[in-house]
Amino acid sequence: MFRVLLVEDDPEVRNVFKEALRMKGYEVVECSSAEEAWELLERGERFDLVVTDVLMPGMDGIELLRRIKTRFPGMGVVVITGHGSVEQAVEAMKAGASDYIQKPVDLNRLISAVEGVLVPARAAEGSRARISGLMSMAAMLHSLSGTTSLDELLKKIADFAFNNFSPKGVAIGLLDEEKEELEVRFVQGIPDLSEGERVKVEGAGVSESERRMLPATIRPEHRICLPLIVDSGLIGVIAMVYDQKPLLDQGTLQLMNLFAYQAAIAISNVKTRAELRRMVNELQRFEEGVKKLFGAVRMREVIKTSLEESARLVGAEISALALLPVRPELEEFAGIYVLTHEGVPEHIDREIRSKLEPVVSSFFGDEVSLKELTTIPMASNLAFGSFPERVEGFITALLIGGEGTVIGFISAMSEHEKFDWIDVRLLQMMGYDVAAAIQRAIATEEIRATTESAIRALARAVEKRDPPTLGHSERVARIAVLIGEELGFDQVRLEKLRVAGLLHDIGKIGVPDWILKKPGKLTEEEYAKIKEHPDIGASILEEVPQLREIIPWIRHHHERMDGKGYPAGLSDDQIPLEARILAVADAFDAMTSDRVYRPALPLEEVVRIMEEGKDKQWDGKLVDLLFKILSEGRIPPREGVKG
Ligand SMILES: [Fe+2]
Repeated sequence: MFRVLLVEDDPEVRNVFKEALRMKGYEVVECSSAEEAWELLERGERFDLVVTDVLMPGMDGIELLRRIKTRFPGMGVVVITGHGSVEQAVEAMKAGASDYIQKPVDLNRLISAVEGVLVPARAAEGSRARISGLMSMAAMLHSLSGTTSLDELLKKIADFAFNNFSPKGVAIGLLDEEKEELEVRFVQGIPDLSEGERVKVEGAGVSESERRMLPATIRPEHRICLPLIVDSGLIGVIAMVYDQKPLLDQGTLQLMNLFAYQAAIAISNVKTRAELRRMVNELQRFEEGVKKLFGAVRMREVIKTSLEESARLVGAEISALALLPVRPELEEFAGIYVLTHEGVPEHIDREIRSKLEPVVSSFFGDEVSLKELTTIPMASNLAFGSFPERVEGFITALLIGGEGTVIGFISAMSEHEKFDWIDVRLLQMMGYDVAAAIQRAIATEEIRATTESAIRALARAVEKRDPPTLGHSERVARIAVLIGEELGFDQVRLEKLRVAGLLHDIGKIGVPDWILKKPGKLTEEEYAKIKEHPDIGASILEEVPQLREIIPWIRHHHERMDGKGYPAGLSDDQIPLEARILAVADAFDAMTSDRVYRPALPLEEVVRIMEEGKDKQWDGKLVDLLFKILSEGRIPPREGVKG
């Protein structure tokens, strides 16, 4: 912007001149005397032009002109001469004035005189500015290419604007396409505007977006807005703010456009790189999640893993899985599942329902509704799981079943509005795998239910012959599984161990009734008959190929660590681990139950016997695990057991 020094003793005239020049975008400094003006010039104040009256008290305008021409030969001076005074005009021009104007002054003549002096200077300055602008743009491009952080990049872009276009303030807003908002990502030198502010733009044009972003106190003619465009799409705006209307020549405008073009490309590159990095990370997490999902066999495990992995995948505080009773086999599991340490707060329940209910009714009308909420206890070491006080971010993916039916939803929630299209897409991908895992689990549950009833029927058949032992197999199975869990067995291994617990005494089918039911002491032959039951059990199970793996566990559940057990007299590690677990569970339940030949032993007595039998009869480590489970109250006290 050009600075003009206006020297005029008449305050009214001075004011009119000043306003006229300001309207044209010049910065005007006014003095009421030549002395005062000279003082400013001598002090080194920079002016592009001096406009001076001739007739003033004290030093006159011609004298001021002479001094200026001696001291600052390059500076333009326009002289305002008295009415009809040709002599003054001639004198002024001889003394080196750039132009003169006669009073009374026509304002248009004033402006054209001023421009006549300044325009050539402006052109020269413009080309100087363009050259230095282009050079610093080359430097900026060089430094931008190495920038990976968006904040750092925006700072560099703003620095460039400050250095080359001299605004008072710069703001950079980037478009959030999904939300149709412009977010202020950088601001400097603009009061009443701060980083992080968002304005709705909803398809508004560039200048309208910029108008909404900048505070209304900044006059439109004091702003310059440069659109950031990549592939003919608007990605944001750079707004520059001035104290006065900036004067822009063609060269500067070209430089600004080039600058905005390069800035847009650099911003878009940094964003793409960051997005790619994030996608790679999230895809890795997705892969891990899916792997875990495939490891889950039972329905409950599938639901728990789905909830954990979905929340982890998109960085949600909480996730919910809703299953709809749209098919007979789904009815048993229909409900809304939420992973939690405690209960689910009322507002979260409400939030989930209010978001999912419209979707359900859009698919099924009134025929299907969301069932009640079920909480699934979660591991305490998980990073997520604290319920947000308000739910701002909520995304949902459909779970699509075999024939394309919607069987439920998986949703992720957060206190902040943080999810974007990548999260939505990832959750959708996760949804496909969750739906597949659920269907697999249902099929497994069905097969399991059939096998289960056959196995239970077998176990019961034995127990029915000896009523006091009713429920023994179930309890042994449960205790064995608890020990297996302590040992970190996976679901599949635990399931096999449970079946082995149910069937461990199946061989007793081959032991005559009178021996099984005999009260009091058995003879040696009778006892030998009893000792055949592990082998008989093993031979029965050989007929069932699916159960082959558990045969050795059943065959050796009466072996002892010291080798004095039966049927094979194995010791220590020769005995399969599962058989050692069954031995501990079997002994504990037998001793805490009434038998035909003795009543149940008090718990302290059982603990004492098992303590003494450590590493002789039973694996000491497993006995300790049993005691741990017992002390945690995880084995329910038995009716009739003296505690
Ligand atoms: Fe047994």
